[in-house]
Amino acid sequence: MQATQEYIQANRDRFLEELLELLKIPSISADPAYVSQVRQMADAIADHLKVIDFDRVEVFETEGHPIVYGEIIKDAALPTVLIYGHYDVQPPDPLDLWNSPPFEPEIRKTELHPQGAIFARGSCDDKGQFFMHIKAAEAMIRCDELPCNLKFLIEGEEEVGSDHLEGFCKANNQLLTCDVILISDTAIIANDTPSITTGLRGLSYVEVEVTGPNKDLHSGVYGGAVANPVNVLASMIASLQDQDGRITIPGFYDHVIDLSEAEREALNSARFERDEYKRELGIDAEQGEEGYTTLERATTRPTLDVNGIWGGYIGEGAKTVLPAKAFAKISMRLVPNQDPDHITELFSSHFQSIAPPSVKVKVTPHHGGHPVVTPTDSIEYQAAAKAMSTAFEKEVIPTRGGGSIPIVALFQEVLGVKTVLMGFGLDSDDIHSPNEHYGIFNFYKGIETIPYFHHNYAQLKKDQS
Ligand code: BES
Ligand code: MN
Ligand code: MN
Repeated sequence: MQATQEYIQANRDRFLEELLELLKIPSISADPAYVSQVRQMADAIADHLKVIDFDRVEVFETEGHPIVYGEIIKDAALPTVLIYGHYDVQPPDPLDLWNSPPFEPEIRKTELHPQGAIFARGSCDDKGQFFMHIKAAEAMIRCDELPCNLKFLIEGEEEVGSDHLEGFCKANNQLLTCDVILISDTAIIANDTPSITTGLRGLSYVEVEVTGPNKDLHSGVYGGAVANPVNVLASMIASLQDQDGRITIPGFYDHVIDLSEAEREALNSARFERDEYKRELGIDAEQGEEGYTTLERATTRPTLDVNGIWGGYIGEGAKTVLPAKAFAKISMRLVPNQDPDHITELFSSHFQSIAPPSVKVKVTPHHGGHPVVTPTDSIEYQAAAKAMSTAFEKEVIPTRGGGSIPIVALFQEVLGVKTVLMGFGLDSDDIHSPNEHYGIFNFYKGIETIPYFHHNYAQLKKDQS
């Protein structure tokens, strides 16, 4: 891998320039106004794969946004690594909170990124991360040091629930045949503390609508006598958690597999700078489920959060009104072995049951996803841990991620192969927030690490047979 590493060093500046170009494309999957930019982004990735001499590159149409597929098959006898990523990004709003425009990438130094970070929507989640794989592939191909076959599957709907990827995987499972799936869409603990994500939370997402009277009313004439849906919704939501931060939906915790004391100890042994954490978020105290640490609450415990709530008059000044309706969007992060559909059902029937007779309640489920855990005693994990410790010159720690990548559980099920979550972001990189950024150090360290993974994995596979 000597030549590959030298090639990477010699081409660093161009790699960064190419990423900055991709970050200028506003591939916002959630907003129909951006369909053509999403497609432009898919085509740009396909072009990148063609330029580095992939054998086959295709942009597959779906009923939603296109899926980019590419492969380079060196030798059918060699193992095949499938790289998954997503080229779509979250909407950038609120725009006025960005210090530079979200689709005009700018490099600035920060406390955690003294070598500079790229500020742009999608820089860390996930353009900057999947692009590392394209550049690592380029280096290995150009230096004739590719030790395995590569398949790329880069989708454009991850941020909106990967609705069309499941069907695509089921219909094309021959095409996607592989030995392992490698994903860079998660975080490390810190730039001097490399880690590999060994679990992700699942998700159940619902929208609720509470209806009171059949029209908005004068809050003086009717207030006090007729249910106010906003008041009712607020108290219903408040009742979903008790004083100890436990979720009150009956059966919610029934299938939760508790971590062993040894697992909890290992998780909590990772460095956690409490004061830094609070200072960075501008909070005076953390809050969460009684009996668990902040790290556990954010990764291995299930949660319930209101993502948005609205109803009634929100314009300038005061309008005295008793609104007819109130709404909220609620997410529940799930852990093994909670089932998203089952949790959605439990939520629905509980939410209906706590509604007073003065209102009607409607619950609409949105997308969901299964939680995942990946083993640490596999050759897949070992290949990644060794690659990272080579590149970072540090021991690697297994950690859990609090976010969700819904397709991972499905990959295990449909393709029957293990996934390695080897991400290079930081939790503080503000993904989904204003001023998302990705460290220059992280971008290059990722490109350096990836060839070691392929090399280690090919070697371990060979040793195994
Ligand atoms: N890359 C994230 C998931 C993630 C973030 C995992 C941080 C671990 C640590 C992904 O793009 C994401 O945002 N997923 C959504 C899923 C949803 C839109 C179905 C999430 O977690 O909210
Ligand atoms: Mn992502
Ligand atoms: Mn995301």
